[in-house]
Amino acid sequence: MNQQTRRKFLKRSLIGGAGLIILPNIITGCRTLGGSANRKIQVAQIGCGREGRVDMDGVLSHDLARVVAVCDLDSKRKEAAWAHVVDFYKKKGESNVNVETYNHYRAVLENPEIDAVVVSVPDHWHALVAIQAALAGKHVYLQKPVTYGIAESIALRKAVHARKIILQAGSQQRSEHPFVAFRAVSEAVRNGRLGKLQTIKIGIGLDKPSGKKPEAMPVPENLNYETWLGPAPEQPYMEGRVHPQDSFTGRPGWITTEDFGLGMITNWGAHHIDIAQWAMGMELSGPMSIDAHADFMTDDVWTVHRNYHVEMLYANGVQVILDDKFENGLRFEGTEGWTFCSRGAVRVTASDPNAPETDPNKGPLRASDKKILEPVKHGKRWAPSSNHYLNWLESIEAHRDPIAPIDQAARSLTACATAWIGMKLKRKLTWNPEKEMFINDDEANAMRERKPRSSEYDFRRVMNDAGLSAA
Ligand SMILES: NC(=O)c1ccc[n+]([C@@H]2O[C@H](COP(=O)([O-])OP(=O)(O)OC[C@H]3O[C@@H](n4cnc5c(N)ncnc54)[C@H](O)[C@@H]3O)[C@@H](O)[C@H]2O)c1
Repeated sequence: MNQQTRRKFLKRSLIGGAGLIILPNIITGCRTLGGSANRKIQVAQIGCGREGRVDMDGVLSHDLARVVAVCDLDSKRKEAAWAHVVDFYKKKGESNVNVETYNHYRAVLENPEIDAVVVSVPDHWHALVAIQAALAGKHVYLQKPVTYGIAESIALRKAVHARKIILQAGSQQRSEHPFVAFRAVSEAVRNGRLGKLQTIKIGIGLDKPSGKKPEAMPVPENLNYETWLGPAPEQPYMEGRVHPQDSFTGRPGWITTEDFGLGMITNWGAHHIDIAQWAMGMELSGPMSIDAHADFMTDDVWTVHRNYHVEMLYANGVQVILDDKFENGLRFEGTEGWTFCSRGAVRVTASDPNAPETDPNKGPLRASDKKILEPVKHGKRWAPSSNHYLNWLESIEAHRDPIAPIDQAARSLTACATAWIGMKLKRKLTWNPEKEMFINDDEANAMRERKPRSSEYDFRRVMNDAGLSAA
């Protein structure tokens, strides 16, 4: 598609069904793309692991962009990603393919030729890379959860707005491909098809201990472990807490190690709580009270929570309940019926007993009455988004908010993180969504952020150096 056809397509795609016009937010004064009219968006992939490879393919499959650089602090992964991108363009008939490789993301951000970065690093690194990318004026596709902690998410929002860059959060359930059920159900709920919404039951799966004891190991030569630790607390290297050395696609152990990721509550919570808040119109707010409890793994290489039960009450009277025994997905219950959406046969983890296999009676989209799921013709419609990566690239070109913008994605992380703080403190908490603080609770408020390992990894210092306040 050339630039002109693309612009026509963008205009057309803003027109929803039944002639209903959905206007996106246009961001004025945003970084514009330099060069000729046919110049593609020059993208660098930062973090080339399990999801980074999915993200790379997501961008490569759209003609609007060109992947020009890959970056990873594990040289094996960096080289494999380079070969993957070169091979992709060669298969398209190109002979001289130039893809740059970087060991450190800061060098990527210094390259003025790069317009945009995809950030697929572990959660503990999200805030720093994304804040510095935004400050450097790069557009960002940032994997979910957008940050590790609450205070970081507030700083990131500020950096994105200050530099007017386009940030898409990796909450791909908001786009049609490949999980259309979430849009259909959340649009139906938002338009009152269930009468008065009362309860949302959310299943996000369950992690189990590895059964292996923590034990220090020699650091592989190809891995810069010192930088991999980033802002997280100092600790000896264990492969089971980082990523597998014999596979690029294996589930990494950091995801079950609390210093690097908070467990299922932010891992899958960032997907399903995001949809819950979107459906009930609370995407810029959050819960008012959180009552959570969980068991945590002990004496294991992994440290995140296992069994859990969380109840959150919102200002609209809706109760959101998460329980490790719920089927993966979201069940919305109202005075006039219920509806359920999920990814269908996708399993969360090999150890998750609740993930559906391929039972045809357990489809991804169900309702008490099929009328609930008839397409919404009048009322609140989601902006079109057939594909999450394409939506990001088109939003960069059109200087408009993407389908999963930072202000909403930050609130999704916040809801998950308040639940995690509730799990740790094992008592009921009250939260003020406007001030983004717990009410009269210094202990809980202190857990909105953690002390960085050194000032090099301090997001507050980075914001201050750029003349911005962090919170
Ligand atoms: N949207 C989704 O459905 C989905 C699915 C899986 C994972 N994720 C998210 O994707 C992100 C990556 O997860 P993953 O499973 O691919 O992890 P992974 O460990 O497999 O890959 C992360 C890669 O980042 C590299 N890395 C770490 N710190 C870096 C830094 N500072 N600079 C450059 N490279 C760095 C690592 O060496 C590794 O290769 C996480 O935020 C995760 O939550 C999202």
